[in-house]
Amino acid sequence: MILGVVGAGTMGAGIAQLGCATGMSTRLHDPLPDALAAGERRVRDGLRRWAEKGRVDEDAASLLETVAGLEGLEGCGLVIEAAPERPELKRELFGELSRVCGADAVLATNTSSIPVTSLASAAARPENVVGMHFFNPPPLMDLLEVIRADQTGDGALELAVRTGEAMGKRVILAADGPGFLVNRCGRPFAGEGLRLLQERVATAEQIDRICRMGGGFRMGPFELMDLVGIDVGFEVAKSFAELSFGEPRWRPSPIQARMVAAGRLGRKTGRGYYDYPDDGAYRADDPEPPARGGGHGAPVAILGQGPLADGLRERARAAGYELREGGPAELVVDAGPRPTAELPGGAPLLVLCARHGLAERGEPAAIGFHLLPPLDGSRLVELTRLPGSQSFASDAAETFFARLGFAAVWVDDAPGLVLGRIVCQLVNEAAFAIGEGVGSAEDVDTGLTLGLRHPHGAVAWGDAIGLDHVTAVLDGLWEERREERYRVAPLLRRAAITGTPLW
Ligand SMILES: NC(=O)c1ccc[n+]([C@@H]2O[C@H](COP(=O)([O-])OP(=O)(O)OC[C@H]3O[C@@H](n4cnc5c(N)ncnc54)[C@H](O)[C@@H]3O)[C@@H](O)[C@H]2O)c1
Repeated sequence: MILGVVGAGTMGAGIAQLGCATGMSTRLHDPLPDALAAGERRVRDGLRRWAEKGRVDEDAASLLETVAGLEGLEGCGLVIEAAPERPELKRELFGELSRVCGADAVLATNTSSIPVTSLASAAARPENVVGMHFFNPPPLMDLLEVIRADQTGDGALELAVRTGEAMGKRVILAADGPGFLVNRCGRPFAGEGLRLLQERVATAEQIDRICRMGGGFRMGPFELMDLVGIDVGFEVAKSFAELSFGEPRWRPSPIQARMVAAGRLGRKTGRGYYDYPDDGAYRADDPEPPARGGGHGAPVAILGQGPLADGLRERARAAGYELREGGPAELVVDAGPRPTAELPGGAPLLVLCARHGLAERGEPAAIGFHLLPPLDGSRLVELTRLPGSQSFASDAAETFFARLGFAAVWVDDAPGLVLGRIVCQLVNEAAFAIGEGVGSAEDVDTGLTLGLRHPHGAVAWGDAIGLDHVTAVLDGLWEERREERYRVAPLLRRAAITGTPLW
C-alpha cells in the first residue's frame, strides 16, 4: 500500500518518517515548496538517525517521494492529512482528496480538535474517513488514537488500526467528540489548575510543585501551558466549550483570556505564568523531602478507613510512631475520606480535607491536610489552617509529616486542596468519557500514560485512591461551590456505591 501524507510540517514529516520506517512507499505533499523541502530533510535526517541505531534499513529513505501537487497522491491506499488546524482548509482538502484518490482510498485526519464527522461530510465517501491522531513528535510517541466518525466504516477503521500497529504504536479507539479520548480525559489538569489559581487556593508555582512532588507528574499544569503556548491552550478550551454547547467542566478560564490579551503566551514570548530568562532556569528546583524516621515511639491515633488511612498507618509505624486506637495520643489524624464521628480530644488534630474543606468541617483548631495514594509516589503533603489556628498545631503537623518523609506546603482551604481536586476531576472526567462510550477504561489509561505522560491512568489512580475518597472530594466541592462542573459522573457514583471498579 502507498501512504500519502498531506502537510510536511511537524506532524506530517514525523508521520512520513514512520511510513518509510514501516516499509511503506510514502508520498509527502505540501503546497509550499520550502515547507516541502524542509519536511523532506526532516524525514531523511530522522531515518538516517534511526538507520545509525539499526532501527531501520539503510535504504528506508528511498521509499520517500515528495509531490508538489495533490494529484501526485493518486493511487495511495491511505492518505493522512496533517495540514494546519483550520476547519475550512481541511474540509476543502477532503473534497479534493476524494476527487484525486481512488474510490477505495482511506482518508485520515490528524486533527486534534476538529470533529472528524464534519470532515467526513466533506468527502465523497464519508465511510472511508477516519481520525488518526498522532502525538508530538510522532516518531517518538508510542500512542496513536484512532477516531471513529459517525460515518466511519469498519474497513477504514481497521486499516487505520493496522497501519498504526505496523508503525509500532499502541492504538486506542475513541468516538468523535471534543478532544476525542486523550485530550478530553487530560483536560482537568489545566482546567482545575486554573480554577485553583483563580480561587487563590495556591500560586501557579505551588500548584506545579504539588503536581510534581505530590502526584509524580513530570510538569505541573502551568509550566505545561507555558510550554504548549497559552494562546494554543485557550483556543482548545474555547473549542471544547463550543463543541459541547457550554459544558460547565470545560468553560475556558478568564485567566487564560487575560494572559492572551497581555501577550504573555508562555515560553515563546519569554513570559507566561513564569518568566523565561535566557539562561533557561524559570523555576527553583524542588526540595528533597526529609528523611523518614524519628517517631521515637510517640503515640498517635490515625483514624478512618480507606487506602490513605491504611498507607499513613504503615508509614507512621515505619517512622517509629506507636499507633493507638484508643487511649491518649500526642496527635490525632482523621485520615478517612468522610469525617470520623467521635474524635478524641486533648491532642492536636489533623483532618483530611476531602468531603469538607477545613472551615466547613467545623474543627477550628484543627490543621487540614491532603495526600493522595499511592503514597509511594508522593513526596509532598499539602497543609491548610484557619485564621485562628495555633502555631503548636501547625508545628505538630509539619513535624509528623516530615518524619513520614513528606515535604510540606501550606495552601488555602478547599475540599481536596490542590492535587486531590485536580486528580479527582481527572478520575471524574474519565468516568464521564467511559460512561458516554467515548472509549474503554483501558484505553483511557493507555492514552493518559503514553499520550500525556501522566504518572498513572485516571482509572488505575481512582482505584488506588479509593472511589469513596474521589466522590467525597467531588461532593465536597459541589456542596461548597454549587457548580455543575463538580457533579459526579453517573458511572463513578455507581461504582463508588456498589464497590465495583470503573471498567
Ligand atoms: N503539533 C502538535 O503537537 C500536534 C499534535 C497532534 C495533532 N496535531 C495536528 O496536526 C496538524 C498539523 O499540525 P503541525 O503541528 O504539523 O502543523 P505545522 O504548521 O507544523 O504544519 C502544517 C503544514 O501544512 C502545510 N500546509 C499549509 N496549507 C496546506 C494545504 N492547503 N494543504 C496541505 N498542507 C498545507 C504547511 O505548509 C505546513 O508545512 C494539525 O491539524 C494539528 O492540530 C498537531
